[in-house]
Amino acid sequence: MAEELVVDKSLSKSERYESLLPQISGLIDGEDDLIANLANVSSALKYSLDYFWVGFYLVKDEELVLGPFQGPVACTRIGYGRGVCGKAWENNKNIIVENVDEFPGHIACSADSKSEIVLVLRKGEKAVAILDIDSDEVGTFDELDERYLEKICSLLEQKF
Ligand code: SME
Repeated sequence: MAEELVVDKSLSKSERYESLLPQISGLIDGEDDLIANLANVSSALKYSLDYFWVGFYLVKDEELVLGPFQGPVACTRIGYGRGVCGKAWENNKNIIVENVDEFPGHIACSADSKSEIVLVLRKGEKAVAILDIDSDEVGTFDELDERYLEKICSLLEQKF
């Protein structure tokens, strides 16, 4: 396995994801340790796509608990239905937030976070983790991000 990712920053967003996908697949292929894989995927996404914060929250009992991430320190625990992450968990559905100031109950771990995408990772029907990505610009995320990030989440779901 190559331990270096190469993604040309001059490429469009979809081209970057296209280039990243097989590399992420190679990165986690043959490695079954969940935390190691979540850590490497956080880093791969953060440094290939230049997002402000990329990380995972793991479903533990009645809360989401902070898992591997890249970026500034973040809140450790998020309750069911709380914030964007807890709402995605409650609804068992991904959420794209164009402007965090307009999302009721958004939890601001950093004042620099302006938009956000949250995806639900499942084992069968049951949510097991949340992928949370923050941008320091409004309106960063769209269905294209969701589509590619879902593919990455599918690879990771096999590791739970
Ligand atoms: N904004 C999230 C909290 C997590 S941080 O963004 C890393 C939320 O509202 O759930």
